[in-house]
Amino acid sequence: MPTTIKVKKGHIEEERTEAIVVARYQDDVKLDGAVAHLNRATRGRLRTHIRSGEFQGKLNQVSILHLNGELPAKRIVLVGLGKKPPARLDSIRQAMGTVSKAMRSLELPSFTLAIPERGIAGATVEATSQAMAEGCLLGLYQFLHYQPSRAKETKPVRTITLLARDEQTLKMGRAGAQRGQVIAEAANSVRDLCNHPSNVLTPTTLAAEAKTIAKARGIRCTVLDRAKAKKLGMGAFLGVAQGSHEPPKFIVLEYSGAPKKTRPIVLVGKAVTFDTGGISIKPSENMERMKADMTGGAIVLQTIRAIANLKLPLNVVGIVPSTENMPGGLATKPGDILTSLSGKTIEVLNTDAEGRLILADGLAYAMRYKPAAVIDIATLTGAVFVALGSHAIGVLGNHDALINRVKKVGESIGERAWQLPLWDEYKEQIKSDVADIRNIGGRGGGTITAAAFLSHFVDDDYPWVHLDIAGTDWGESARPYIPKGPTGIGSRLVIELLRDLASNPL
Ligand code: BES
Ligand code: ZN
Ligand code: ZN
Repeated sequence: MPTTIKVKKGHIEEERTEAIVVARYQDDVKLDGAVAHLNRATRGRLRTHIRSGEFQGKLNQVSILHLNGELPAKRIVLVGLGKKPPARLDSIRQAMGTVSKAMRSLELPSFTLAIPERGIAGATVEATSQAMAEGCLLGLYQFLHYQPSRAKETKPVRTITLLARDEQTLKMGRAGAQRGQVIAEAANSVRDLCNHPSNVLTPTTLAAEAKTIAKARGIRCTVLDRAKAKKLGMGAFLGVAQGSHEPPKFIVLEYSGAPKKTRPIVLVGKAVTFDTGGISIKPSENMERMKADMTGGAIVLQTIRAIANLKLPLNVVGIVPSTENMPGGLATKPGDILTSLSGKTIEVLNTDAEGRLILADGLAYAMRYKPAAVIDIATLTGAVFVALGSHAIGVLGNHDALINRVKKVGESIGERAWQLPLWDEYKEQIKSDVADIRNIGGRGGGTITAAAFLSHFVDDDYPWVHLDIAGTDWGESARPYIPKGPTGIGSRLVIELLRDLASNPL
């Protein structure tokens, strides 16, 4: 049962609710906004509670004041935003994630939040409300699909009400919260797709998901099977798929939100539903995580769904090559040479570097649209984790302005990306003696040589960015609004980047 977010006008001190949640900065001496109203209504009890020192407002700190009939509400819950100057919009997302989980563990079916009339950390009321909705819904995410008895036991938060004191706050709050809901649902759906094991989530299931998404207005879906892909000459994609009994699917979604002749933005997402490494087989430790090697593809599908819901005035194409990477009697072997859709030949020296092979054909296919921009997203290299750890997405490409937009949007929405260089020198590392290129580049700069490989399939006339999410897609432990396991990181970045490009073209 999903959580519903309601936005309405009202006075916080008059609400009949299980809990009134108020976010507060650390070291805030003033009692203003919602706190002032609540303090007055409780005849100073809130001030006493705050002055007691029990609640300092540290980021993600939660403190509960039980009421005794002073207000129609049963409790006031304070949640900390941390110190004011370093506080970012992400602080509200974190605080809301934390407090939502706390309310659920108390088995409260609903609670009410006051929308700060002046926004948080310099952001508008609209952006603040969006972040509030996102923080709650992302934080409450749980994957209990295969634990029905646990699912029955947990009492979900059913309704979260955002309360606006005046008409203007209501209008902005409603717009922001609605958008936050669409975006959080997209990210949560990505997490779901990544959590499902590979015996359930196959290329066929993913194609079915794409077809469901395409039931919305303005979306067209085409799925190419093995035979059709072969006819088109997708030798790189099929080279990965040939070791698997599971039928591969090359999925294309086309969203039209702008006039026909507007050039589309093309998204390409890697969807390897399980990456064993193929003949260059992976060690078994942590191999189960490779069920999430389809994260990029899931992000592309859910992004198309989200932007259709948001009615973005853009044309966007989503391309999702999907297959398993398996060893087998028919599998590609080291040394084999594949002819890609672009016509370029590829010497496969390591069958575990399969993502770039399926993306090669995905990117070549993207060129057919004469795109305004191409964005690819993939769990491509373990090396990006070595370089950046789990706090930044690796970004590379051929267009500095687009790369800078990615970095800027990422910073503002809390999914940060960091650029690595893509100089020509790195292309030397993927030269082959027997084919046009080879699929690995030696020991150094693994994320960069992977991108250098991809650049062979992108025409330099088109702005292109590559997002390597292999360091961020899986969390070792739970964070305030990011669960352990599949994180969905990258979903909000791509959606917000498209929003940014819609309002301000390249
Ligand atoms: N799917 C992996 C990358 C990956 C690693 C994703 C860890 C998430 C967590 C990819 O297909 C792969 O195996 N890459 C190889 C490339 C190498 C053989 C050049 C890698 O990174 O080791
Ligand atoms: Zn691999
Ligand atoms: Zn892979």
